[in-house]
Order: sequence, then C-alpha cells, then structure tokens
Amino acid sequence: MADTLNVITICGSLRKASSNAALARTLPSLAPAGLSIKPAPAWDRIPIYNHDIQADSGFPAETVAWADAIRAADGVIIVSPEYNWTIPGGLKNAIDWVSRMKDVPFKDKPVAIQSCAGGVLGGARMQYHLRQSLTSIDALLFGKPEILVTFAPKKFDEKTLALTDQPTIDIVKQQLAGFEKFIRRLTGKN
Ligand SMILES: Cc1cc2nc3c(=O)[nH]c(=O)nc-3n(C[C@H](O)[C@H](O)[C@H](O)COP(=O)(O)O)c2cc1C
Repeated sequence: MADTLNVITICGSLRKASSNAALARTLPSLAPAGLSIKPAPAWDRIPIYNHDIQADSGFPAETVAWADAIRAADGVIIVSPEYNWTIPGGLKNAIDWVSRMKDVPFKDKPVAIQSCAGGVLGGARMQYHLRQSLTSIDALLFGKPEILVTFAPKKFDEKTLALTDQPTIDIVKQQLAGFEKFIRRLTGKN
C-alpha cells in the first residue's frame, strides 16, 4: 500500500466567484488515490513585505502558518490567475516573505502550476514568471502537462462554478497523476 502524499493548493485569487479557486476546489475529486489535496492557510492578511517589520517583530503569524503548511506538505499546487502579464501581487508578496526565512519552505518542494484566465493565453505569462521566481528559491517545478484553462468562464457552470469542460477535466487528471509520480521520484516516498 503506497503512502498517501499530502498536497496543498495555493490560490492566487481572493474573489468569491474565482475560477481559479473553483478549479482548486475541484482537484481533490480529480486526484489519484495516492494524493490527498487540501487548501493552504489563507495568505490574504499577510502585510506588504518590509524588512523593518521582519527586523522589529519577526515574521508575521500569517507568514509562519503559510510557511509551516508548505514545509509540511509533500507537494504544492499553485492555481492562479495572471494579473497584468505576471503573478498577482498578493501571491508574489507572500512568496517574498517566506523566501526570507532561514528554512525556506519552497526549497526542494515539488510544485505544480495551474491557471485559469478569461483570454486565449490562459495565464501562460504568469506561469512562466512563477516558475522563474520559484526556481530562484530552489523549488522543484513539475513540467508537463501544463494546465492553462483558457476562456475560463465558458468552462465552469455559471451558478455552481463546477468545472464542466471534459477536456480540461481530463488534462487536470493527467497532471495530477504525473505530479504524484514526480513527488514520489523526488521524495523517495513509495
Ligand atoms: C488586475 C488584473 C489584471 C489582469 N491581467 C490579466 C492578464 O494580464 N492576462 C489575463 O489573461 N487576464 C488578466 N486579467 C483577467 C483575469 O484573468 C480574470 O479576471 C480571471 O478570471 C481572474 O481569475 P479568477 O476568476 O480566479 O479571479 C486581469 C484581471 C485583473 C483583476
């Protein structure tokens, strides 16, 4: 019997009707049996990074909780929109905070990325920038398949926000299955 791998999701959008949050909520139902997927603690109360805060009162409690959850997880899936061709500022700010910790939580951490966007590029530029930024703090980025949900409003039920697009469901399942193998290879967990 294989060990269950604990994976957390981090969503880059805070709005209630977020397509990215809807996708993140769908992941447990699309995951292979070996992956348990739960949301990470909220990052929305993390202050804007300021070295003086860190020097005067240490890391804010929200950053510590966020970092602890990332450290404890076998893998992380970031599901985020693209804002102005890049990573949403709030999410980047949270990453910046934890990157200053002695035991950087993303170091050697398997990370997969997914994005939903209203347009044709599906958040591709955000994904590329996120890969670059996380590589700078030694995260281990999963490669393919990539999940870029284009024209997102058409792929979720307008009222329930359930993911209804079968090709998207299929490729997300493929990514999760691949991510499980990737984590097992990197961590040696059977
Ligand atoms: C500040 C801001 C900037 C945006 N910039 C982009 C962008 O560069 N590329 C893109 O595809 N969509 C952009 N969008 C549109 C988002 O992709 C779209 O609103 C998406 O649905 C947001 O994700 P959510 O549904 O999870 O909240 C932007 C939205 C906001 C609020």
